[in-house]
Amino acid sequence: MSASKRIGIGVIGLGRVSPAHVEGYLSLPDEAFVAAVCDIDAQKTAAVSEELGVQGFTDYHDLLAHPAVDAVVILLPHLLHHSVVEAAVAAGRHVTVEKPLAVSERQCWELIEAARAGGVVLSVSENSRFVESYLRIKEVLDADRIGDIRLVRAFIYGSAVAELADPDEPWKHEKYGFAAVLDAATHFFYVLRWMFEPVVSVQATVRHWSAEHGVPASEVEDGAVVTGRFTNGGHFSIEVALNIEVPWGERFEVYGDRGSVVCDQLADPVVTFHQDASDVGSALPGVKVDPLAWRAVSMHRGAADFVRAVRSGHAPAVTAEDATYAVRLAEAAYRSVQAGGAEIAM
Ligand SMILES: NC(=O)c1ccc[n+]([C@@H]2O[C@H](COP(=O)([O-])OP(=O)(O)OC[C@H]3O[C@@H](n4cnc5c(N)ncnc54)[C@H](O)[C@@H]3O)[C@@H](O)[C@H]2O)c1
Repeated sequence: MSASKRIGIGVIGLGRVSPAHVEGYLSLPDEAFVAAVCDIDAQKTAAVSEELGVQGFTDYHDLLAHPAVDAVVILLPHLLHHSVVEAAVAAGRHVTVEKPLAVSERQCWELIEAARAGGVVLSVSENSRFVESYLRIKEVLDADRIGDIRLVRAFIYGSAVAELADPDEPWKHEKYGFAAVLDAATHFFYVLRWMFEPVVSVQATVRHWSAEHGVPASEVEDGAVVTGRFTNGGHFSIEVALNIEVPWGERFEVYGDRGSVVCDQLADPVVTFHQDASDVGSALPGVKVDPLAWRAVSMHRGAADFVRAVRSGHAPAVTAEDATYAVRLAEAAYRSVQAGGAEIAM
């Protein structure tokens, strides 16, 4: 594709996460435009297509056939990711899909092979890759200010209880839905791949709090603790609590033999750096305190990266291969749960 061409974006799925993605593409008027939108819900399609002044479809096949659509952004229930990405690639469209890329590693590799054969970009809208504080922490790691990694801790917190109980969003409480491991921990499985040495083993336990407390149909876990080891012997722990009452946020801590960083999206400062055991810590510069918008801002950056990749022909920052690694860790975590918390070798 010519580097000067404005790319036409088709948005498939107009649910909760879609406004942040649409804002991202609208903020790039010289590089991209929203060409068409689609949701199986005709009311949502009508409202968004009218607001944006673009064509709306209730069948994604029609959107894929639209001549102005060069690339699609897929924001759908997890079980649909595989079939809709497959159809988009078969239609010759570049694709970015919200995490997880698909619900199994096997499905992910099928999509990677299809995208390679079709010569289209396949990226995953993994917003963690673009969160300001995580980019600054990556710089600290790359500058070797932390030293040998001894422990990485992540905590994803918020309340999914109302969403899991909402009869209008049944996919969220069905298998592969809004699950603590597949939906949430996957973010940090990706971050482990991005920042640290390979994972050699995984152990996990989960909790089905909603199902035990009045959301009887819920098949997904809303709490999880996933731990494991890196090749250097360091440990990681990823905790997820989607059954608590606190604003949505994430905590991310990296402890090494020469320094440490502690990050919390609800804290001020967001990131504190400690250079040794005597240092009570100082704010890491360049990170804005933005407890409500940090996720949306990262999604806007993700949109810009996808557009850059499509126009330049260079790889996106979040490759489908790295997103597949995250799904692989999620599958290993579920295997550990099934085996009563046993250590699963990677
Ligand atoms: N990165 C993040 O922080 C973040 C946050 C929220 C959601 N997500 C991801 O975004 C994706 C969507 O989540 P959501 O919360 O927006 O879900 P949602 O249920 O709010 O929206 C999904 C939309 O898809 C539509 N849909 C269902 N089947 C369809 C079909 N066959 N064709 C067209 N439209 C169809 C539904 O009508 C709905 O509007 C998921 O992959 C989720 O993991 C990511």
